[in-house]
Amino acid sequence: MKLLVTGGAGFIGSNFILYWLKKYPQDKIVNLDKLTYAGNLENLKSIEKNPNFSFIHGDICNQQLVNQVTSNVDVIVHFAAESHVDRSILDAAPFIKTNVEGTYILLEAAVKNKIKRFHHVSTDEVFGALPLNSRGKFNEKTPYNPRSPYSASKAASDHLVRAYATTYNLPTTISNCSNNFGPFQFPEKFIPLAITNLIEEKKIPVYGDGLYVRDWLYVEDHCKAIDLILQKGKIGKTYFIGGLADDISNMEVIKKILKLMNKNESNIEYVKDRPGHDRRYAIDWSKTQEELGWNPQFGFDDYLKLTIKWFINNQDWWKRIKTGKYLEYYKKQYA
Ligand code: NAD
Ligand code: DAU
Repeated sequence: MKLLVTGGAGFIGSNFILYWLKKYPQDKIVNLDKLTYAGNLENLKSIEKNPNFSFIHGDICNQQLVNQVTSNVDVIVHFAAESHVDRSILDAAPFIKTNVEGTYILLEAAVKNKIKRFHHVSTDEVFGALPLNSRGKFNEKTPYNPRSPYSASKAASDHLVRAYATTYNLPTTISNCSNNFGPFQFPEKFIPLAITNLIEEKKIPVYGDGLYVRDWLYVEDHCKAIDLILQKGKIGKTYFIGGLADDISNMEVIKKILKLMNKNESNIEYVKDRPGHDRRYAIDWSKTQEELGWNPQFGFDDYLKLTIKWFINNQDWWKRIKTGKYLEYYKKQYA
C-alpha cells in the first residue's frame, strides 16, 4: 500500500509515519509538508534513508503539486494544518488558508485520482466547550459549535470532507480526537511548554484560574486508533478518540509535572487568560472501543513520565526550536 501523509513533519504526523513504517515496513509513505515553523525533519531522521519513505517539500494549497503527488497513492492521511489556538487568535489567515482551502484542494485531487481512502484528522474543539463539573462528554450526536478561528477552520474542513463523501462518493473517514501529548510535540503546547520551561528554570504560564479541563491522549495511542480506522473503519464514518475516563484540570496536570520533576509550585505563573477559552473537553470514545477494539494502552501518569523523560533526553531537539522566531512569538504571546 502507498500512503500520502500530509503534515508528516509535524508532531502527530511524524509519530504516525514512524509508527506505520515500523509496523508495516513493506508499505510506502510519501510525506508532503510545507515545513512551517511547526514542521521539523529532525523528527524523521531515523527513517530518512528508508527506501520506502520519501519527502516532498510543498504546500497542500498548491493544486498542481497536490494533483501530481496524489496521482499514484492509495490512501491519504491528512494531518497538515495550522494547529495552535493561540496563534489563530493572533492571526487567523494561515488557518483559513491551510485548514480550509488546503483541505479543499486535497479533496479535489483525491476525487480526481480515485483515492481508495481519505482519512481526515480532526479535533474535539469543533464541538465547542462543555461546562465544568458536568459529566457530559462529546459524542457522535454533539452539534458543531467551534469558538476559535482554529476550531472554526477545522470545523469547515470536516464539513468539506463530508460534502465530498456525499456528493462525489469519495471514500472518507474522519477522526475527532482530544489533546495529544508525547515525543516531538512543539513546545508551544501546554505539556511540552511546561516541561521544557522547568528544565530551563523558567516559570510555567497558566492561563486564567488554571481550572480548564482537557482530555489527554498519548500520541502513540492516537496513531494506533488511526491504524485501526484505516484497517477496519467504516467508509463515511466519524470516530471519536480520547485518552481519559475522568476529568483532570490544567492545574492538576502541572502539579503532577512539578512532582515528577522535583519542583515546587513557586514555578507557576498565572497569566492573562486566552480569549474565548473553552472550559472543558471530554470525549466519549466508547463507540470506537466497541467497533474497533481500541483503547488507550496505559494511564496518563505513565505516559506523562515517558514524555518528561523524552524531553529530558532530547534537549538538543527542543533547544534548537526555542530560539529566534519562537522567542519572538513567546514574547508576543506572554507579554
Ligand atoms: P503540528 O502543528 O505539530 O504540525 C502540522 C504540520 O503540518 C507541520 O509539519 C507543518 O509544516 C505542516 N503544514 C502546515 N501547513 C501546511 C501546508 N499548507 N502544506 C503542507 N504542510 C503544512 O500539528 P499536530 O499537533 O501534529 O496536528 C496534526 C493534525 O492533528 C492537525 O490537523 C490538528 O488539527 C489535528 N489535531 C491535533 C491535536 C493535538 O493535540 N496536537 C488534537 C486533535 C487534532
Ligand atoms: O483538543 C484538541 C486540540 O488540543 C487540538 O485540536 C489543537 O491542535 C491542540 O493545540 C490542542 O488545543 P488546546 O488549546 O487545548 O491546547 P494547548 O496545549 O494550547 O492548551 C491546553 C490547555 O492549557 C488549555 O486549557 C490552555 C492551557 N494553557 C496553554 C498554554 C499554551 C495554559 O494554561 N498556558 C499556556 O501557556
